[in-house]
Amino acid sequence: MSNGTYLLLVALLGASLADSTCPSQCSCTPNSSGGTIARCTTLDAAEQQFNDNIQHLEVSNIAPQDGWLNTLEDRLFVDLGLSKLESIKITNTSLKSIDINAFRGLPNLYDLVLSDNDIVTIDPDTFEFSTFLHRLVLAGNPLKPDVKKYFLKSESLTELDISRCNLSRITPEMFSELDALIFLNLASNNLKDIGHFWRYKDFEFIEELDLSDNQIQKIESKILSEHSELASLNLRKNLLESFDFVDVPELEELDLSQNRFQEISANTFKNVPEVIHVNLSYNQIHFIAEDSFIHVPNLKHLDLSHNRIRGPLPVYMLQKNMDIENLKLSGNKNMKVFTGEEGLSGQHNNLYTLDISDCGLEKISSKSFQRMENIVSLNLSGNAIRMLNADVFSKLRRLSMLDLSNNQLLTLNFFSLNRVNRSF
Ligand SMILES: *[C@@H]1O[C@H](CO)[C@@H](O)[C@H](O)[C@H]1NC(C)=O
Ligand SMILES: *[C@@H]1O[C@H](CO)[C@@H](O)[C@H](O)[C@H]1NC(C)=O
Ligand SMILES: *[C@@H]1O[C@H](CO)[C@@H](O)[C@H](O)[C@H]1NC(C)=O
Ligand SMILES: *[C@@H]1O[C@H](CO)[C@@H](O)[C@H](O)[C@H]1NC(C)=O
Ligand SMILES: *[C@@H]1O[C@H](CO)[C@@H](O)[C@H](O)[C@H]1NC(C)=O
Repeated sequence: MSNGTYLLLVALLGASLADSTCPSQCSCTPNSSGGTIARCTTLDAAEQQFNDNIQHLEVSNIAPQDGWLNTLEDRLFVDLGLSKLESIKITNTSLKSIDINAFRGLPNLYDLVLSDNDIVTIDPDTFEFSTFLHRLVLAGNPLKPDVKKYFLKSESLTELDISRCNLSRITPEMFSELDALIFLNLASNNLKDIGHFWRYKDFEFIEELDLSDNQIQKIESKILSEHSELASLNLRKNLLESFDFVDVPELEELDLSQNRFQEISANTFKNVPEVIHVNLSYNQIHFIAEDSFIHVPNLKHLDLSHNRIRGPLPVYMLQKNMDIENLKLSGNKNMKVFTGEEGLSGQHNNLYTLDISDCGLEKISSKSFQRMENIVSLNLSGNAIRMLNADVFSKLRRLSMLDLSNNQLLTLNFFSLNRVNRSF
């Protein structure tokens, strides 16, 4: 063997050896969906050097005494040899401060999760050069943003999660430099109102907004009307009593569960004409006007469970909602009767799930399920039904799940339900 070949061999060996090793305090394993993932307990460019083949980095669940530095320094990742990183996850550590240039030199950085740390401030220009960054999760940090300035600047960010950050105030300025944002998560903060925030003209591309688990009492009717892309609005677990006239022209999914609604009327959904999913469960609704859903002809999924609705349901309540597929009324304990003698008005051929469990129902009339003859799943459990006429289910030819458990049935004088997967 010539000296030249020998040197080359050593060099190759050296390279492959280095490839298969990982710096101290880290483990490097192939990711099932491609690339290599490094999991570390600390990051220190003076001690650790990576080869250029790591796409994913994770530092999680590190107590302060276990050596994790609480700062991400200027060009830390590049200095570690990690310039090919696509995702970084640093969660549940004592990370406190982030240098404005910490993420410089990472052209492929796509996904950054920094949840459950001690980050209070982050320079608004930190991601200005992370031109590929799509998702940023800052949930669970005690953030104190300067509400008079933009919170972050990025032209690529589509998803921002600042839930659980103890935010009590948001302003239009904060989001004014995030032009590509589609999903904004503000859940579990201390927000009492959303102010004039949403009128901001540069902020109209958002499609999904999560405001659940805050203290919002009122939503001004025109506040979201400029947001022509907004399709999903989550207001679960707030203090709302009304949604009357709130104008969201393209809204499809609306979660108003766990609020303080007592009544709904034609005004409630008047200005959300495209809505498909409505969740009003866990409110205190005792009154539903006949025309409550008249303005939402596309409604498919309606959850009214766990309210105080008394039966029978208003006859014309769903007359205009021919597409309804899924109706949940479970846990309206004093409902007692489901519908009047003639059932609900309107043709409901697409209704395939009906849940009226736990509603104190005493009897089911033969005509209760008229014009909803394609029901597949019917839950009548936990009621006080004593008798059922044989013809009650006879027209439900598609019925394949019938739950009659926990009733007071004395006789089962029916019927050819062999095809049904019964539970009673
Ligand atoms: C594995 O790779 C996929 C695709 O690049 C990425 O989405 C995922 O986050 C990676 N897994 C981990 C644990 O980083
Ligand atoms: C956070 O990390 C600590 C160790 O520092 C660990 O004991 C704790 O279980 C972690 N919390 C979660 C939610 O994983
Ligand atoms: C949350 O913010 C309020 C002020 O808005 C402050 O008084 C409180 O200490 C903060 N809580 C935490 C856990 O940071
Ligand atoms: C409606 O909201 C409640 C509680 O917030 C949840 O448990 C339920 O699954 C939701 N219903 C639907 C149909 O998603
Ligand atoms: C029917 O409803 C009850 C009470 O809401 C629930 O516990 C049960 O699982 C439901 N049955 C089926 C088959 O889904």
